[in-house]
Amino acid sequence: MATQKKIACVVGGTGFVASCLIKHLLQKGYAVNTTVRDPDNQKKVSHLKALQELGELKLFRADLTDEGSFDAPIAGSDFVFHVATPVNFASEDPENDMIKPAIEGVQNVLKACVKARTVKRVILTSSAAAVSINKQNGTGLVLDENSWTDVEFLSSEKPPTWGYPASKTLAEKAAWKFAQENNIDLITVIPTLMAGPSLTPDTPSSAGLAMCLITGDEFLINGMKGMQMLSGSISIAHVEDVCRAHIFLAEKESASGRYICCAVNTSVPELAKFLNKRYPEYKVPTDFGDFPSKAKLILSSEKLISEGFNFKFGIEEIYDQTVGYFKAKGLLK
Ligand SMILES: NC(=O)c1ccc[n+]([C@@H]2O[C@H](COP(=O)([O-])OP(=O)(O)OC[C@H]3O[C@@H](n4cnc5c(N)ncnc54)[C@H](OP(=O)(O)O)[C@@H]3O)[C@@H](O)[C@H]2O)c1
Repeated sequence: MATQKKIACVVGGTGFVASCLIKHLLQKGYAVNTTVRDPDNQKKVSHLKALQELGELKLFRADLTDEGSFDAPIAGSDFVFHVATPVNFASEDPENDMIKPAIEGVQNVLKACVKARTVKRVILTSSAAAVSINKQNGTGLVLDENSWTDVEFLSSEKPPTWGYPASKTLAEKAAWKFAQENNIDLITVIPTLMAGPSLTPDTPSSAGLAMCLITGDEFLINGMKGMQMLSGSISIAHVEDVCRAHIFLAEKESASGRYICCAVNTSVPELAKFLNKRYPEYKVPTDFGDFPSKAKLILSSEKLISEGFNFKFGIEEIYDQTVGYFKAKGLLK
């Protein structure tokens, strides 16, 4: 008799991380339900339609702010991966554009998990932005899963893009509260800036940011410097490792709590030196004047590694693959 396939629901299937996660789940033999905001938008779902060749993949319409919309895709699921988040770095109203819908989304997804009664574990994609932003000074600080971003500092000082880290921190906290109150087995994965090839029709903004020293995009280079100043480091992981970590943690019974998923901790000047040497053809600038050459902190993935997870991609592989992807897309010579 054929054994029933395990069902995984991926909330927010169109994105960079979610589409890679869906591919890995299908390759591992899961049946996958995924939610998208607009299944009729062919441009946004074409890469998901292509993934249907790999296995059972069903698309459902759902929005984070629409409470009942997750009931159907989550019904019968063994695992729920909540990956979607509202992203709008240019927002002039982060409270309504990112913070409220992110919190509401977590609650709506978790309510549907309670209703389903089949869900064994929920894996929420959080962010290093929910861990590393604080007022501490110095270098050599090592942060682990006990660290939380200081939301009071973000909402009083309002540094550029503050709404995103505030939304990720508050949404993760809301998830822990709801999970505790409703006896849900929750794991949060805390990835850093991700790069690597993408299945999405558009190039992901995070891959663009990771590549800015090579493409020479001044706006993004300033964004990357801002990231080091606000977050304390330039910390990077390959999207595929982050997706593998999601599935590893779903399947690993002993796993519990938060897990940082970070392959490389560096700074803008250190990264520039590495890229300049590895890809001399792109003439990556290495003089950053008095900009801090060392990162303030490192994010430790010790907990994930001691659970038995192995990172497949280091800095060389992450950049070799992302450079190859940018070349294939015609974004680099
Ligand atoms: N990429 C990174 O470097 C990075 C680093 C750390 C953490 N993360 C986290 O990883 C997760 C995925 O990131 P990503 O880079 O893959 O992002 P992405 O490509 O921008 O995808 C975001 C996804 O969220 C969905 N979404 C946004 N608002 C929604 C709403 N109101 N209702 C339903 N879906 C909504 C989008 O759907 P539509 O297609 O309908 O817009 C899209 O599928 C996020 O939780 C992010 O915070 C990412």
